[in-house]
Amino acid sequence: MILIKNGRVIDPASGLDELQDVLIGDDGRIAAIEACGEIEHKYSVENAEVIDATGNVVAPGFVDVHVHFRDPGLTYKEDIVTGAQAAAAGGYTIVVCMANTKPSIDSVEVFNEVYAREQKLPIHVLQAANVTIGMQGAKLTDMVALKDAGAVGFTDDGVPIADEKLLLEALKQCKELDVPISLHEEAPELMYSPGVNYGEVSRELGLGGAPEEAEYVLTARDIMLNAKIGAKLDIQHISSAVTVELLRQAKKHGIRVYGEVTPQHLAATEDLVRKKGSLARVNPPLRTEADRQALIAGVADGTIDMIATDHAPHSAEEKARDISEAPSGMIGLETALGLVLTHTYHTGLIPLETIIRALTVNPARLYNVDGGYLSVGGPGDVVIFDLDKEWIVPEHFASKASNSPFIGDELQGRVEYTICNGQIVYSLAK
Ligand code: DOR
Ligand code: ZN
Repeated sequence: MILIKNGRVIDPASGLDELQDVLIGDDGRIAAIEACGEIEHKYSVENAEVIDATGNVVAPGFVDVHVHFRDPGLTYKEDIVTGAQAAAAGGYTIVVCMANTKPSIDSVEVFNEVYAREQKLPIHVLQAANVTIGMQGAKLTDMVALKDAGAVGFTDDGVPIADEKLLLEALKQCKELDVPISLHEEAPELMYSPGVNYGEVSRELGLGGAPEEAEYVLTARDIMLNAKIGAKLDIQHISSAVTVELLRQAKKHGIRVYGEVTPQHLAATEDLVRKKGSLARVNPPLRTEADRQALIAGVADGTIDMIATDHAPHSAEEKARDISEAPSGMIGLETALGLVLTHTYHTGLIPLETIIRALTVNPARLYNVDGGYLSVGGPGDVVIFDLDKEWIVPEHFASKASNSPFIGDELQGRVEYTICNGQIVYSLAK
């Protein structure tokens, strides 16, 4: 039993934002949410572990629908155990693993092996499966069987799907199965080189660059492919202002589409590549300040539904390569809250409730998972964080990897406790 006292309890699903106490029962579910001091009167809580959350926010455990835990096959970068530890340290109680592993998750056999191991972790680690066999974009996987096996979504993340007829068929199947399909939108024919925005910085570095057109042209295509189908289409890691406007207009016209943005795209621009080199290389790339502002406005007005990290661990050796050769991606679970609060809440650009909504109930609902809300009888998955605490991003992480371009940054806002199924799975060392 855990009694969380005197925190500012924020639950976007119910609209709650008040100083309250929260009791999590021995069954791992929320037993009570009441005015401060009430719970001790009404329940026998002598044996409860008490957490004093005075001055802190108490929210549903965060939900990240876009992480790479590299398991199976690439576990020198990360594995599901270290990935889950990084998630817990970041305030996450539910994550969805991408399927660009080795082998990729394109069969029930590969799915079952990793899925069985994921069930034994301290947080809820869910698994997506591939849209196409081997992520080759030529033949669809057995989506029905993969969903039956437990896949919560379908994606070839890392690789855009070029074949329109194939994608149309995938959208139809996902619609029937009521599962999201999440797409990495960078049209290959419009790319010069991935990972760095096509523009000033790519020119300085002598790189071809990744133009924003590559993202928004493919996104426009896929929104229109889905217009008549109405699948749960999830546009991953949106990076360009035009893409945000496409989603805004599509939603206005009643076309079903959802959007993810990463903390790094909300916090930084292509300028970070100048300072941090290959550590700031990511697909799609960090872009301009105008893009960053449009992404922030997109979260603020609900056009972008979800903040998802795209936690993409790589080894130090891989990231030490020249920027033209290093793999794209950065870790993100442990810096997500600090980056988002520092660059969007503390600057007055996105209200706290909206940020928490994009980190909890929106992704949970889209992925049909029981989480992302606080209510009596609901899951005892809770994060407690200090909105104002200042800290410096360290060189080492709970993640196996340390490929973050934000090491050394001072951030404001830090996770104090993560509780999953009524168990403390992370607490900040005091
Ligand atoms: O930068 C990226 N890295 N973007 C992706 O979409 C994939 C990811 C990875 O798997 O490393
Ligand atoms: Zn991607």
